[in-house]
Amino acid sequence: MRSKIVVGNWKLNGSLAGNEALLKALLRDIPRENPAACAVCVPSPYLAQVRALLEGSGIAWGAQDLSRFDQGAYTGEVSGRMLVELGCRYVIVGHSERRTIFGETDALAAQKYVAARNAGLTPIFCVGETLQERERGEMQSVLARQVDALLHAYGAVGLERGIVAYEPVWAIGTGRTATAAQADEAHAFIRGRIAAKDEAVARQLPILYGGSVKAANAAELFAMPNVDGGLVGGASLVAQEFVAIWRAALVR
Ligand code: PGA
Repeated sequence: MRSKIVVGNWKLNGSLAGNEALLKALLRDIPRENPAACAVCVPSPYLAQVRALLEGSGIAWGAQDLSRFDQGAYTGEVSGRMLVELGCRYVIVGHSERRTIFGETDALAAQKYVAARNAGLTPIFCVGETLQERERGEMQSVLARQVDALLHAYGAVGLERGIVAYEPVWAIGTGRTATAAQADEAHAFIRGRIAAKDEAVARQLPILYGGSVKAANAAELFAMPNVDGGLVGGASLVAQEFVAIWRAALVR
């Protein structure tokens, strides 16, 4: 039985004062012994602050991107090793905003996944189709291409301690959530693709849904057999919403 995970993706949001208020509010409601894992992925400059506030709590933390390099002359990059030093457990890799706005390719996302794993982080590898791709009936071929990039780079065994997030681009930040059935269908496809390489790895792999998850739809999404939690953007910036989403993950 896979346990559920709820991860907040703050994106390019936050301030020292705002982060503290938000995290203190989360800490009031999310206990240390936490049956559903909970984490926040924050902008890297805030990681030291977040660690100071969350250390020893039931909320883990992580970053939203990392370099494919470990160290050297790579201006502006942040390595997995640095994230580990700041206590990160997770790092988001290949988010659609990185792919579409910053031109990250499938190959680069796969390299970053490998870098994260090598550093000892749990990568959250994001995949998902655009609206045009879905309308053209290409959802499966896009997911296959994105997942295969990872399988080629590392083999199915690389997914043993990783997480996949299915985030249909048309549902991100739009308020338009995939239906529970649409999410489950995509998750089942991703799981099946990995199972074709390694059944055991596929069975234990957490696959999170992301795209306008909110308190009002989380329970229905999380009830689906292939949905193992959520990657939450906008709603993770509102303590009450994020706590309610995390609570929805407690219900089996
Ligand atoms: P959203 O973002 O919840 O604001 O749609 C999700 C994500 O991009 O991870």
